Amino acid sequence: MRITKDFNTLDDFNFKDKTVLLRVDINCPLDKSTLRILNDTRIRSIVPTVRELIGKRAKVVILAHQSRKGKWDFIGLDQHAALLSKNLNAKVEYVNDIIGEEAKRAISSLGAGDVLLLGNVRELECESVSADMSDHAESELIGELVPFVDYYVCDAFGASHRSQCSLVGFPAKVPSASGRLMAREIYSLKTIFEKPRRPSVFILGGAKFEDVPVMMDNVLKNGGADFVIVTGLAGNAFLLARGVDIGEASRGVLADELTEENFRAARDVLSRYGEKILLPVDTAVERDGKRVCVSTGDMPTSEPALDIGDQSIDKFRKVILSSKTSFMSGPAGMFEKPGFEEGTKRLMMAMVESNGLSVLGGGHTAGAAEKFDLADRISYVSTGGGALEAFMLREPLPVIEALKYSKKRFGPDH
Ligand code: 3PG
Repeated sequence: MRITKDFNTLDDFNFKDKTVLLRVDINCPLDKSTLRILNDTRIRSIVPTVRELIGKRAKVVILAHQSRKGKWDFIGLDQHAALLSKNLNAKVEYVNDIIGEEAKRAISSLGAGDVLLLGNVRELECESVSADMSDHAESELIGELVPFVDYYVCDAFGASHRSQCSLVGFPAKVPSASGRLMAREIYSLKTIFEKPRRPSVFILGGAKFEDVPVMMDNVLKNGGADFVIVTGLAGNAFLLARGVDIGEASRGVLADELTEENFRAARDVLSRYGEKILLPVDTAVERDGKRVCVSTGDMPTSEPALDIGDQSIDKFRKVILSSKTSFMSGPAGMFEKPGFEEGTKRLMMAMVESNGLSVLGGGHTAGAAEKFDLADRISYVSTGGGALEAFMLREPLPVIEALKYSKKRFGPDH
């Protein structure tokens, strides 16, 4: 069965002995103290595409990113290569280079069925620029690698809302296709979101405070959501924006995100959407080795907030239980730490118990659902966080637009 006619898939090309540049999203959550990968869901999700390309005897060159320049989790991809190799049960060579001599030598030495992962593509300046496909097509990355590449395959659904050069530049220059994960996500999400039922609630957590006000504005302005619940580090940042003194320790964890611009954006959505935005009324901290809930009236605390508190969980569960569509992106707390999984787990349970349509987005959130054995009881678990949000808001995804363009320009092989 064809999944879409708008862009090519792996069925449309003869990859035998050809060099395929495969862009994936294996951006993973890391442990802050050890910088080890905490969850490899996104790495496992690209295995079917890589395996198929190996089976078709392609020479596979993988491009990927981890975090963004300037963030603590911006690291190279050697662990990713090792985990991909383990999940594929095949060798994955890694070179910490993208467009230099080392990378080019490694690409040129590939044989049919070999797999090579290049360095973190966000090391390149051109990858930090958001521009359109035609500008990116002339960027350094594309200029340096296109001579080595026969086909481009994009399986980076999680980054498909970004218009960055490794994502949209290649389709302007070489025949391109979606990978299996990308095609599956688009097909499943189209089916699921054709007629979402109301009331709908978005539960936004995780650490990317910067993205949350924009997302809230989008869903609430367009009437896509009836309520937005804010949890996780983003919830703490919103409490600060509302004037709650969350304490030095909690502020410290958020350091990167506490810019005047982010605060302005948060205050702006709070004043515009009032009671449609639900913030935590308490948080959970670790005191004498135990989970202790502290209400906002009793803050600041000297310990950092590691989860939403029990009163917040009860308040949010009521809203989720009466919804017909619920969407969660980003965990409510540090769910990897025993005792602080409560928020994430109990809100996910409410999504299941609501018997409505439940959707999870983002690598970290998907990992939490697996940990709690809830992944099979959620209607759909997507690898996309921001990309899924953009899809749900019916915004055009630059990567999909680029793949459509490439099909028109180069067609399929057969
Ligand atoms: C994600 O994790 O949402 C994607 O990998 C995109 O990452 P970004 O938000 O840093 O662009």
